[in-house]
Amino acid sequence: MELKDQLLNLKMIMFGGKGGVGKSTCASSSAIWAAEHGRKTLIISTDPAHSLGDSLGMKLPPGEPTPVIGVNNLTALEINPKVNMADFKELSMNPVPNMDMSGMMEGLPMMGDLEELTSMTPPGIDEALAFGKVLEFIETEHDYDLIIFDTAPTGHTLRFLSLPETLSGWIGKILKLKMRFGKIFGTFKKMFTKEEKNDDNSLELLEKLNKSILNAREDLMNPNLNSFVIVMISEEMAISETGRLLNELIKYNIPVSNIVVNQLYADSTELCDFCKARRKMQQKNLFKIREIFREGLGKNLIEIPLFKDEIREYVKLKEMGEFLLN
Ligand SMILES: Nc1ncnc2c1ncn2[C@@H]1O[C@H](COP(=O)(O)OP(=O)(O)OP(=O)(O)O)[C@@H](O)[C@H]1O
Ligand SMILES: [Mg+2]
Repeated sequence: MELKDQLLNLKMIMFGGKGGVGKSTCASSSAIWAAEHGRKTLIISTDPAHSLGDSLGMKLPPGEPTPVIGVNNLTALEINPKVNMADFKELSMNPVPNMDMSGMMEGLPMMGDLEELTSMTPPGIDEALAFGKVLEFIETEHDYDLIIFDTAPTGHTLRFLSLPETLSGWIGKILKLKMRFGKIFGTFKKMFTKEEKNDDNSLELLEKLNKSILNAREDLMNPNLNSFVIVMISEEMAISETGRLLNELIKYNIPVSNIVVNQLYADSTELCDFCKARRKMQQKNLFKIREIFREGLGKNLIEIPLFKDEIREYVKLKEMGEFLLN
């Protein structure tokens, strides 16, 4: 399906690729197009180093969906990778906050398990949970016809795509161990904090999150609901990187039908020697890209010229849209 038809028909579209290739620009330009074609659109940046606000030329308060001024039907959101951890305050797993429990736990028979439990919090779990919250959001009732994801550079995005497995396995273990240790934790907590009321609903939240993540994964794999658009540039290294990304997406069953080849030098007699050389290099790679991804793998290629200026804010983003969605 062409990008245009996807923007008109799907529920989600994810833009991903290497750093700096134009993911945010393509995502913003597509979002404006979809919104102006009557679809109530939410564009979400899942990259902790956000640039969506810069691209749209507006300030986006972290975690707050903000209407895009001048475009009907368009809302933008930069997820806050830190804030949501507060919902899971008990996941620090230390029964008494700010106190080293290791000495007191000595001699308990299940010490091995306990160590496993504390070492189980994977690095970057706060970001993972933030992304989990996004997946949870797409699973709950909302008013948007289309959600566009402006994702983080490749490696990071792939970590997120494997998140349902990671998180699900991790949550499963936590649930099991927390059930076993729940009593001990409760007792210690009372002894040291004089806290009578146990208002920890982390487990409940985690179970809910886990369920939505698994459902969201199903949606992400459904070609009638979601498609991943790879953005790349015409360079040798980008070809191998795109191949790897495509393989990973296939592994996770994420549908891909469009690849954007961005920042191509146009054919012009006015090109300087340097630009001529760049164009020659790009055309050589473009030939390979067409051969591998279009002829070989049947993907639609969308070729976009390198603009003279930076592409940001409405007018320029619309201009890019003419190439992206012609
Ligand atoms: N076709 C183009 N012509 C000229 N400039 C472009 C083009 N596409 C993108 N740019 C510019 O390149 C810069 C990087 O684009 P963008 O922020 O969209 O990349 P990104 O892939 O989202 O980067 P990051 O990995 O940092 O999130 C921006 O300044 C943007 O205006
Ligand atoms: Mg970006």
